[in-house]
Amino acid sequence: MEEKQVKKRRIVLIPVPAQGHVTPIMQLGKALYLKGFSITVVQTQYNRVSSSQDFSDFHFLTIPDSLTDSDLHSLGALPFILKLNQVCEESFKHCFSKLVQEQGDDEIVCVVYDEYMYFSQAAAMAFQIPSVVFSTTSATAFVCRSVLSKVNAESFLLDMKDSQTQEKVFPGLDPLRYKDLPTSAFGPLESIIKLYYNAVNIQTASAVIINSASCLESSSLAWLQQKLQVPVYPIGPLHRAASASSSLLEEDRSCIKWLDKQKPSSVIYISLGSLALMQIKDMLEMAWGLSNSNVPFLWVIRPGSIPGSEWTESLPEEFHKLISERGYIVKWAPQMEVLRHPAVGGFWSHCGWNSTLESIGEGVPMICRPFTGDQRVNARYLESVWRIGVLLEGELDKRAVESSVKRLTVDEEGADMRKRAIELKEKLEASARNGGSSYSSLDNFVNSLTTP
Ligand code: UDX
Repeated sequence: MEEKQVKKRRIVLIPVPAQGHVTPIMQLGKALYLKGFSITVVQTQYNRVSSSQDFSDFHFLTIPDSLTDSDLHSLGALPFILKLNQVCEESFKHCFSKLVQEQGDDEIVCVVYDEYMYFSQAAAMAFQIPSVVFSTTSATAFVCRSVLSKVNAESFLLDMKDSQTQEKVFPGLDPLRYKDLPTSAFGPLESIIKLYYNAVNIQTASAVIINSASCLESSSLAWLQQKLQVPVYPIGPLHRAASASSSLLEEDRSCIKWLDKQKPSSVIYISLGSLALMQIKDMLEMAWGLSNSNVPFLWVIRPGSIPGSEWTESLPEEFHKLISERGYIVKWAPQMEVLRHPAVGGFWSHCGWNSTLESIGEGVPMICRPFTGDQRVNARYLESVWRIGVLLEGELDKRAVESSVKRLTVDEEGADMRKRAIELKEKLEASARNGGSSYSSLDNFVNSLTTP
């Protein structure tokens, strides 16, 4: 008798080609793979993830986009994403139609796309396959995007130009002030509002997955659940659900050996993520503030992250001497391992959402120096909601740097923040364990795909 083939279930993932987006969507892919799904990753030619050991069973497909780093730099990140959506829609449709026709024993059960890759919806809809939005930012930042997608750009711009208004709490988003909203320097406000409008108006998506947990943002999650009219699954932090390495840059592990030689909780770790650019002037203020604080430091300086400078050559000779005594600089670090290291007592961060979750997940308090976009939202929450961060605002000045570093690593105030950070870490761990809220939410999502 002929044996009946058992159909496998396949999920198609569409990442934004940037580290802060690739990392969580690949972790999501790993978590779903561990639940028994086959995974196909459809990515752009620009900034492709290479298949590592963690994803050896994944299927990778590339769609052409003809975009380059210089497009990113000349357009700015948000107009770049708008362009990516334009150029990818047709090629994705073509690629997806082939996938559907050739699916064989692997039935495609849904397309999970990064919210900024909304071109994916059209193809999924054409083949009547459910599409699911994946948000790589906090639920609160998603709420902000929903609110901003509906503002009148002209009058909002006027409000934002007034320095007094900037300090005011935005109605309904307490404690976020106007200046904390994700209206970044990534592009003109009109592009931002257009992008937000396309990203959050999810008429055809059947669910939203958020890399967050209810112990961090219960009211923002409740707001989304009420407004979006589709199920919202908070299943974060994903690095707890499924660790998977998808670094686009090479990690320098020599810093772990250096950390091994430092005293417990004595080091400040500094990293500004994968995109932020820093002016030479600010880098020098940071360097002298660190020098005056007497606190050991591990500093990630990405090549090219300081316009006009290749790497560390703008740092003065005296500072290079200091590095050999009590500092270490790398181009890219194994961040999760660094944050987990007992020598690390604080994290100076740009407050990208992944870095924020990773730091909270290890109970490490932060110095918050946001640059753009959702980072300001995260920084404000770290400072005033979770109370585990020192927010460093305004002009960067070596005295403020010195005092923030000391407040976090030496003073009583820092010790209190560390206690609260450890309490939050324990809550996050509980939410990711069997029976916890994020664990159950992932199960509910999986069940929604298996039960018609
Ligand atoms: C950006 C936004 O800032 C972020 O808020 C948004 O949600 C996604 O896109 P990015 O600026 O790169 O991302 O910051 P972040 O979200 O913190 O992601 C950076 C990732 O790179 C983290 O997972 C971090 O662990 C990793 N990293 C960073 C390293 O592995 N090594 C490093 O040296 C620095």
